[in-house]
Amino acid sequence: MARLSWAARLYIGVVVVLAAALIIRGPFGDLRWWRNVAVLGLLLVVFESTATLLRPRQLAWSPNSSATLAAAVLLGPVGAALVGACTIFGMRRGPSVAQRLFNTGMMALSAYLAGWVFVAMGGQVGVPDAGTFPKVIGPFAVAAVVHAATNHSLLAGILWLTSDRDFAGRRAPLGVSIKLIASDLGYGAFGLLIAALWSVAGLFAPVLVLIPLFVARWAVAQIAEQQRAYEATVGALCQAVETKDFYTRGHSDRVSRGSVMIAREIGMRSERVEAIGYAGMLHDVGKLGVPTKVLQKTGKLTEEEYAAIQLHPMRGLDIVREIGFLDEALAGIMHHHERIDGRGYPMGLTGDEIPEFARVLAVADAFDSMTSTRSYRGARPVDEAIAELRKCSGTQFDPAFVEAFVAAIKRDGWHSPEPPVLAADELTAIAAQDHNDPGAPLRMIDSL
Ligand SMILES: [Fe+2]
Repeated sequence: MARLSWAARLYIGVVVVLAAALIIRGPFGDLRWWRNVAVLGLLLVVFESTATLLRPRQLAWSPNSSATLAAAVLLGPVGAALVGACTIFGMRRGPSVAQRLFNTGMMALSAYLAGWVFVAMGGQVGVPDAGTFPKVIGPFAVAAVVHAATNHSLLAGILWLTSDRDFAGRRAPLGVSIKLIASDLGYGAFGLLIAALWSVAGLFAPVLVLIPLFVARWAVAQIAEQQRAYEATVGALCQAVETKDFYTRGHSDRVSRGSVMIAREIGMRSERVEAIGYAGMLHDVGKLGVPTKVLQKTGKLTEEEYAAIQLHPMRGLDIVREIGFLDEALAGIMHHHERIDGRGYPMGLTGDEIPEFARVLAVADAFDSMTSTRSYRGARPVDEAIAELRKCSGTQFDPAFVEAFVAAIKRDGWHSPEPPVLAADELTAIAAQDHNDPGAPLRMIDSL
């Protein structure tokens, strides 16, 4: 707490003392009452210990309002506050002592107020029965709103008062706060469901209602984690390619964007749109297998050097073949230099023999190359690049995808990259020719 201001310490102290004062006043119930406090408190500890971290070291969120609101109905204000106070036993690593004390006081106070409002609105404390519905819904709904409002107001207070980075860094943007309040209210509704089930399932009511929810939440978190891992993998490979071939910085990202525009325009399914985005990012990953001196060579390439560049789609496939989630993207990477007329590489496929992903990538790839600055020419305007795509439509490119791309660009626009600012020594090291540029003369390698 060393970095907390006096005002912030006082604020935390008031919240904690107030919560404690409300709890110790009682009244406390019998042994069964305490057992129910323990069960709901345990549930809250589980949620608190597995809170979703919205951003690393920042705001954490857990559906613990469902436990405290169930307690408000089943046990009354003091029981709810006791359940809220179980926040102190949360096993999540990260919060400092000050944060932990504040969170505990905040949860206990919110729960107490919710319980108090529930009673004040005519809600009957205890296990609801068939006769309790629907009149319990009104008091419960108001209690849930008071719970969320108290919780977020107290949180806003400490964030406003403190200069401690541990607290201040946890400030959530307004949009996130609104979503969190909405989530609190949504999960709060499960509190009433737990209370309602209590008469049938007793202590198992929380398990019946919330464990399946908890598993679903965990599964969604796992998917999100997996998605982040995919993106990190693709990002790292892209970074490696662009480090090696620095004059095409940002090219992979733009080819990915262009390919996704075409894919959406032709109505591809969302999973395939995602896959083609990855294919765009990784289409030139095979450059990692091409000698750097060839990629960055000034002047004319020899036949062998050109052959080495033409091998990059196959090298790309070799590099990423084992990455399971790429799936259909692999075909795009392998064939993105094929041409409709069969004069492309590496296989010389024609027309529909060329995988759809590859035909889409080829259009976006060439377009970005034309609208980017190269050492041997300036960036061509978008209209000129479109005219070139149309000129090569049916020979180099699939006409349907050219027109889809043109329609998407006319509607959504296209941001061509700024000319690169390179040091003089970098400029001299730039390759004389971009292999994606349709304006560059076509070369056939007989040996491929
Ligand atoms: Fe390529």
